[in-house]
Amino acid sequence: MSVVPYKNDQTGKKSQVAQMFNSIAGKYDFLNHFLSAGIDIYWRKQAVKIMGQNQPTLLLDIATGTGDFAIEALSLNPQKIVGIDISEGMLAVGQEKIKKKSLTDKIELQLGDSENLAFADNTFDGTMAAFGVRNFENLHKGLSEMYRVLKPGGRIVVLEFSKPRSFPFKQVYNFYFKNILPVFGKIISKDQAAYTYLPESVQAFPDGQEFINILKQVGFKNTQWHSLTFGISSIYTGLK
Ligand SMILES: C[S@@+](CC[C@H](N)C(=O)[O-])C[C@H]1O[C@@H](n2cnc3c(N)ncnc32)[C@H](O)[C@@H]1O
Repeated sequence: MSVVPYKNDQTGKKSQVAQMFNSIAGKYDFLNHFLSAGIDIYWRKQAVKIMGQNQPTLLLDIATGTGDFAIEALSLNPQKIVGIDISEGMLAVGQEKIKKKSLTDKIELQLGDSENLAFADNTFDGTMAAFGVRNFENLHKGLSEMYRVLKPGGRIVVLEFSKPRSFPFKQVYNFYFKNILPVFGKIISKDQAAYTYLPESVQAFPDGQEFINILKQVGFKNTQWHSLTFGISSIYTGLK
């Protein structure tokens, strides 16, 4: 049974996740930086650096949300970044941000599902996702699509929350993540479930070596995993 945001709702994970991000879209960027004390910005930078090893020209940012990972990846000077997401609300916030920064010729946002990508095989030099894959209804399908649309030799970079394992950081962090973060998240976002779903979905997510094993099953080679900030987040990478 997969973890979903709204436990009494009968709809599937995908539609619940889209509904949840539509509901918190206006507060998403603020809450991200506030609840992580800005560390999320550093994590995206580190992930983009790894993508830079391939000097990509055309990038696909999966689960782009409000576009922060795509915007960060512009530091690699690609010709174009396409960002896709299932939440129209998140994309609307992203579109506004991209317009304000005059980046519309570089970043194109589209409504789309990572489990059924509307792109031909072997299209992109790199596919990337920050805090997105944990929300997929079907993780294997979503990653297989990220593999399919990559050119041979292309790189996947996934940034995702993971579970810290060392004492005493693990205990302190878990207390914050499960007891304090949901309270602030709920008050500020006004969504009943989103910031309870966050720790629950991280708990259920196959992190570390388990995720690397899934990348290998999908077909990725030269897989690597980098732990960030005591294991709160991890970067996973591999080549097609
Ligand atoms: C936590 S946000 C991450 C946004 C952005 N990547 C960032 O770094 O802040 C997760 C996003 O994943 C999107 N998402 C979840 N499942 C998806 C799917 N199957 N296809 C595309 N986007 C999806 C959600 O709508 C949401 O905008």
